[in-house]
Amino acid sequence: MLEGKKIVLGVCGSIAAYKSATLVRLLVKAGAQVQVVMTPDATNFITPLTLSTLSKRPVYSDYFKAETGEWNNHVELGLWADVMILAPASANTMAKMATGLVDNLLTAVYLSAKCPVYFAPAMDLDMWKHNSTQHNITELKGFGNILIPPGSGELASGLHGEGRMAEPEVIVAFLAEDIRKKLPLFGKQILVTAGPTYEAIDPVRFIGNHSSGKMGFALADELALLGADVTLVAGPTAQASKYQSIKRINVTSAADMLQECLAYFPAANACVMCAAVADYTPVTVAEQKIKKHDYGFNIELKKTTDILKTLGAQKCEGQILVGFALETEHEEEYAIGKLQKKNLDLIVLNSLNDAGAGFKSDTNKVTLIDRDLNKTSYDLKNKAEVAHDICVKLTQLLKK
Ligand code: CTP
Repeated sequence: MLEGKKIVLGVCGSIAAYKSATLVRLLVKAGAQVQVVMTPDATNFITPLTLSTLSKRPVYSDYFKAETGEWNNHVELGLWADVMILAPASANTMAKMATGLVDNLLTAVYLSAKCPVYFAPAMDLDMWKHNSTQHNITELKGFGNILIPPGSGELASGLHGEGRMAEPEVIVAFLAEDIRKKLPLFGKQILVTAGPTYEAIDPVRFIGNHSSGKMGFALADELALLGADVTLVAGPTAQASKYQSIKRINVTSAADMLQECLAYFPAANACVMCAAVADYTPVTVAEQKIKKHDYGFNIELKKTTDILKTLGAQKCEGQILVGFALETEHEEEYAIGKLQKKNLDLIVLNSLNDAGAGFKSDTNKVTLIDRDLNKTSYDLKNKAEVAHDICVKLTQLLKK
């Protein structure tokens, strides 16, 4: 959730500032870019050098760089951030934030920020309980700022009680979960299939196809990025998912894939059937390796079950089913035929006549056709971008 996020971390004057070092480390490790802004007091608790080394960026605490007189532009910093976190947020800084008082760079950045602002207070228990502090917190929450509540335990004063800043691990988890909850597909279960299927002939041979799995894996990644709970049923492929949250189930044959899809489809809000499923499979699989002879060799094949059509027949109200059609001629006519025959909500058409589309390549060129026969054609794009276009349409269909 934090990958690539631009985070302004505001550090206030509190003994808990020593935990900011771990917080920076964890945020950077999670893939975020972290810009630390300290209040002048905070620099008495932890050195800017520590935080700039860990964040790999200069740390700002003054409006001007003393050496050059250059301005640390608070407006730019506020607009740069996707997220602002104040940790530790001292009683003093929270009071300023609640009243709009600006007397240092951090409070100026706060007033300039347009992004969500999280604050993790740290103070002694009596300060925390004080009506002024509680009033300020209510004000801050009223402005839309998000409180990361303090924990209880031994405080720097030696007293026990509430007021300890949340641990850095808790702050990172809180942030990631809060960001996830606001994503468009949060709470949606989505089943994706990817890759080819292999239909065994004997213990060493199979009938397969050229599908690389790239499109299906790109779709699973994009759906996870949009907050969905993704189950990815994958045929034999060397692809790997970007996100650990994706539940991957490896299968080999069309029959295996059917079994997994039947198990996961009932609970799914949507299914994107991207796999290149074999249409035929050998009637019998030889137990031993078939030896070669001087004469020709025939394999008798039987039809596999059409997984998509089976799911289309079972589909409940509100479930969205997306299929793919890879065609070489009469592209739109065939794609619409599949959309209707298989009871789909959306079909992704790609034509092998378009250079750069289809199997193996890193790019694809698709046309999306929905059940009202609305048609959108896209340019040739990389598969991650194509996945994004498909997911935008899928998100709209799920909202209907
Ligand atoms: N599909 C499926 N089960 C099968 C065959 C295909 O679920 N046994 C799905 C594919 O995953 C794809 C869609 O059906 O989403 C269309 O697949 P495609 O191979 O283009 O079409 P078919 O229906 O198999 O028809 P044909 O091969 O004759 O074009």
